[in-house]
Amino acid sequence: MVTTTKPYDLKDQILELKKKINAIILVHNYQVGEIQDIADFVGDSLGLAFQAKKTDADVIVFCGVHFMAETAKIVNPNKTVILPDSDAGCSLEQSCDGNQLESFLEENSEKNYYVIAYINCSAHVKALSDCICTSGNAVKIVASAPQDRPILFVPDQNLGSWVMEQTGRKMDLWKGSCYVHVEYTRESILKIREEFPNAELVSHPECTYAVRMLSDEVCSTEKMIDYARNSSSKNIIIATENGMLHRLKKEVPEKNFIPAPTQNCACSECHFMKMNTLEKLKNCMESLSPEVIIPEDMRLKAEAPIQRMLDLSN
Ligand code: 13P
Ligand code: SF4
Repeated sequence: MVTTTKPYDLKDQILELKKKINAIILVHNYQVGEIQDIADFVGDSLGLAFQAKKTDADVIVFCGVHFMAETAKIVNPNKTVILPDSDAGCSLEQSCDGNQLESFLEENSEKNYYVIAYINCSAHVKALSDCICTSGNAVKIVASAPQDRPILFVPDQNLGSWVMEQTGRKMDLWKGSCYVHVEYTRESILKIREEFPNAELVSHPECTYAVRMLSDEVCSTEKMIDYARNSSSKNIIIATENGMLHRLKKEVPEKNFIPAPTQNCACSECHFMKMNTLEKLKNCMESLSPEVIIPEDMRLKAEAPIQRMLDLSN
């Protein structure tokens, strides 16, 4: 008689390692489906920051990009924080160098800027900021900023201009952008809207003004789930990184999700997010590396504006 045994696959090994090292696996909405499927929590930057802060696991395994894992370490410094690939960066983080921001603030010290940094930035930039925000709470954070100081918003000019539209608050914007979301254009969106005239369009606030103004809803990745669930439309066009479609299809199976095309290709993919694989995830849990290490003085300076954000988000 032939017996078949279930292959001892990567997923089983990861789950076993998770128990062995007492870890929690936190996963961003843009990760590949197979990584999302073994997560303890899948969410947006804000949800992940809250989860990282409250966990009592010994090890935080962060599947996302580097600044997200760094944020987990900043808010929960006594934990070991590891990530599958430490080269998983972010074009927004790269667009605002900490030394450059430091010089800018020195040169413009007479302005006494209140600096609000989008969480997609380095620990150095966070340490120079007054408050952090994510796409999920940016409107609330900016609306609650002191009225008697000018705001400098770094590094995403698109999220910044969307928040200005929402709050009516004027801000000086750093000229950074997400290389994935700026690839959607008015033309690429009009084309897909023509193809699906009854579909709604949901876009991320990192998209340009031309795309946002064509959208029925502009929101963070987490809010896209709620929007899709509550929408009366059967067809919904999604203008954000394609990893988002996995969770949308899984959690709102009764709807039809259409990835918005960019100007050059049919779907958009963040190559940083996609550097993580199941194999690398297993390896990092085996070796407990790469590990996020932050000098304590910088961590302390970066923690205060993140904590301000978490307090304002409750
Ligand atoms: P969210 O916080 O909305 O998930 O966005 C993170 C991000 O990197 C978007 O490109
Ligand atoms: Fe950064 Fe854009 Fe990738 Fe998000 S999608 S991690 S903002 S490069």
